[in-house]
Amino acid sequence: MKIAVMGYGTVGSGVVEVIETHVSSISKGTNGEKMEVAKILDLRDFPDDSHAALFTKDFNDILNDPEIKVVAETMGGVNPAFDFTMKLLKAGKSVVSSNKELVAQKGPELLQMAEESGSNYLFEASVGGGIPIIRPMSQCLVANNIEGIAGILNGTTNFILTKMIEDGMTFADALKLAQDNGFAEKDPTADVEGFDACRKVCILASLAFGKHVYPNQVETEGISNITLEDVSYIEGANGVIKLLGQIKKLSDDKIAAFVSPAVVWNGSQLASVNGVFNAILVRGDAVGDVCFYGQGAGKLPTASAVVADMVDCVKHIDRKKFFGWGEGAEDYVVDYKDSIEMPFYVRAKATENKVKSAFGEVKFLSRIGQPSDEKAFITDKMTQNELSKRLEGFEVINTIKVTNY
Ligand code: HSE
Repeated sequence: MKIAVMGYGTVGSGVVEVIETHVSSISKGTNGEKMEVAKILDLRDFPDDSHAALFTKDFNDILNDPEIKVVAETMGGVNPAFDFTMKLLKAGKSVVSSNKELVAQKGPELLQMAEESGSNYLFEASVGGGIPIIRPMSQCLVANNIEGIAGILNGTTNFILTKMIEDGMTFADALKLAQDNGFAEKDPTADVEGFDACRKVCILASLAFGKHVYPNQVETEGISNITLEDVSYIEGANGVIKLLGQIKKLSDDKIAAFVSPAVVWNGSQLASVNGVFNAILVRGDAVGDVCFYGQGAGKLPTASAVVADMVDCVKHIDRKKFFGWGEGAEDYVVDYKDSIEMPFYVRAKATENKVKSAFGEVKFLSRIGQPSDEKAFITDKMTQNELSKRLEGFEVINTIKVTNY
């Protein structure tokens, strides 16, 4: 069967490579049907590439070719990927995508179009790169009521935090190293400020609870305020700081979802996820906790997931897979600051007495070089709004949520 690839960057070129180098394993999945790359769409020139004859700059070459039935969208960004994908789905072609931004912003419209035209729109690679998570959640865990999800969803920030924790590197130096290694998004703000993780939270929450969650409904805080002093206090208390996406079911029609740095105690499966690796912990009422771990980014890991979706589309070429979720609602995602109680790490200029009179008995933390007027401690469980009230009058240096995953 003829297929096409739109976007010949890191992931798109990986998709072509995997299709060409894994013919035998792919054909086992497609029941013998061979996948042939017929067109590659990219506005750039690749004169030395061995696929030079397959390149086109005109999307219509793919749209109007009746033999191309499955298309991989590895372009990234909302436009023109949205327009192209809608047109392909409308024409009855199946589309697979690694584009988390597009799915998070426009998922309902794309899924609706696939529904209407009987085509398939799959995006395993949009969350966790090569980690199987979308299909396990939509199939293997379907008997569960999902209670919550916590994930290390961004490799770049996990790499930066790991370098700060293990090598005592500053945030700025670790970010530069991540950029030099090519992990970071084109604009590192999307990684560092948590927007990339936020998009993945939207997709996981939509899948887990059946209604679309939009990025503007997920309060998002990145890691740029985390310092080596915070790392050191937490390390002394047997924990690590991770950028976590957290989703919690509150009732049948309310959830909370947020992205933020979080203290994870050693012993949690998430604490030992280091470097560019990702992990997603899903808490179901029947299965308990299950953790999905692997490479959340990179050429071949992400291509592995894209090609698996293409194989699934080839297998279901005349059948619509039952997959997707419904439109979201404005009041469906509630403000976690009022609704979720958790302990907090607090670092402030204060005396022990001042801390005790605001918080009662707390667990004080220490670090080498701690100034005598600086206190760091872990509070009891409370909402973020309650924390803010109790910290009135404090000279706060930083606060970090403590997770129970
Ligand atoms: N920049 C992303 C990351 C790539 O670091 O995880 C995969 O989404």
